[in-house]
Amino acid sequence: MKFSQVLGAAVVLLALVGCQTASAQDKTVSDGVFTAEQASAGQQVYDSQCKTCHNQRFYRDTLRSWNNQPLLYLWETIMGTMPADNPGSLLLDEYTDVIAFILSDNGFPAGEAKLDPDDGMEAIKIVSP
Ligand code: HEC
Repeated sequence: MKFSQVLGAAVVLLALVGCQTASAQDKTVSDGVFTAEQASAGQQVYDSQCKTCHNQRFYRDTLRSWNNQPLLYLWETIMGTMPADNPGSLLLDEYTDVIAFILSDNGFPAGEAKLDPDDGMEAIKIVSP
């Protein structure tokens, strides 16, 4: 093997390794990104703070229109604008829990790891339910 061939093979190998690392970091909401406890805590927030103005259909349509966007952006949007009659009035954990409930209610699975806006939520992509 010539030196240039060895070099070529090494470059291909590095590129492959690079791709694998990138896909390992990119999760979607299908990967069990919230816990069952968060979803059930979120249901109480949802029932008292969100149900009056939106029905379940609305959240499904919202997730569809946010397809492929980072989950963190949805969290920030909800935190900045909802509840519409009193934006930002919930605790940060309550906003996180309510997102867990919305995901769970739309058929996405709970997992071991807690959903945490300070830890990797920008790398979790929303997918259409
Ligand atoms: C007082 C009524 C009201 C309450 C309570 C309320 N919302 Fe909203 N919400 C609105 C209105 C009005 C809009 C914007 C118009 C629309 O899209 O229907 C909206 C929009 C949204 C959107 C779409 C954002 C986007 O840019 O795609 C989401 C998601 C949402 N609300 C979630 C929530 C959650 C979660 C709660 C509970 C914490 C909540 N809302 C409570 C009235 C309300």
